[in-house]
Amino acid sequence: EWQERGAATVRRQETDAASSQAATRTLKKGVKDFHFGRTLGEGSYSTVLAAQDRQSLKEYAIKVLDKRHIIKENKVKYVNIERDTLNRLGDHPGVVRLYYTFQDERSLYFVLDLASGGELLGVLKSLGSFNIECTRFYGAQILDSISYMHSRGVIHRDLKPENVLLDKEMHVKITDFGTAKMLPDPAKAPGPLDTNRPGNPMEGADSNRAPSFVGTAEYVSPELLRDKNACKASDLWAFGCIIYQLLAGRPPFKAANEYLTFQKILALDYTFPDGFPELARDLVERLLVLEPANRLPTEYVQSHPFFEGVSWGKSLWRQKVPRLQ
Ligand code: ADE
Repeated sequence: EWQERGAATVRRQETDAASSQAATRTLKKGVKDFHFGRTLGEGSYSTVLAAQDRQSLKEYAIKVLDKRHIIKENKVKYVNIERDTLNRLGDHPGVVRLYYTFQDERSLYFVLDLASGGELLGVLKSLGSFNIECTRFYGAQILDSISYMHSRGVIHRDLKPENVLLDKEMHVKITDFGTAKMLPDPAKAPGPLDTNRPGNPMEGADSNRAPSFVGTAEYVSPELLRDKNACKASDLWAFGCIIYQLLAGRPPFKAANEYLTFQKILALDYTFPDGFPELARDLVERLLVLEPANRLPTEYVQSHPFFEGVSWGKSLWRQKVPRLQ
């Protein structure tokens, strides 16, 4: 059952219940507070629309999910995961931020950062492939975002160039947390917003789930195929696939169908095209490692020679984008 309780619900601190209700009524955003514009994207359970806050004139992307369809198709859990993970993230330039959630009779609404530059996949397709400088820059922004998500106990599990959006400055905004996994946060007691908190009837459903495959065939890690178990290192596998794809113009594991793609992944059956840059090759080879424990950890990826000269952290997000080529 969907409950309206997003962290984005703005409430004043009130002592008396009646005025608290009044404050909620005036501060809680709803459909009427936005002017809806063009369609930005369509998924099986949702449509993303450009929208503008009528008061502040700030532009957003609003994800509209059809309640009946979600309930009928048993996707309530994934919608909750998406909202919970976005609420846990939300303070990093490289992750799409969730501002408000609300609903009407028919739909759920997620008010998100607008990423007007579209998908990284689109830019990549129009250029064919990226040069080393662009790959280093976008690779660094993606890695910095992964590092932040992991520090907040979130494994994305479906990283791919379609889920890497670009804002108006052409900076990275990671999206689509519907299949993410939330790890218990050791730094903080489980909050009321966590669907995966202990005691929740849905807890553990992840690991007990029937072998339904999460993610996208080309970027799925061997451990997910073998043990149906994803870990932080699974995102680094996907990251290795993305680095390869940015430079080569195609993902490393690609076959006529999903089954054959999975076979290639499990056999680590891929090759580098002629002329693939040497440092990038070394990095990819240390990421596309079958055993997740032997994959290069994030900190070592950051200090790998391929990323030499990159200043990590805040300054990475103040940088001007290299000329795309
Ligand atoms: N498509 C899906 N999510 C989007 C977003 N946040 N901004 C722009 N386009 C999108």
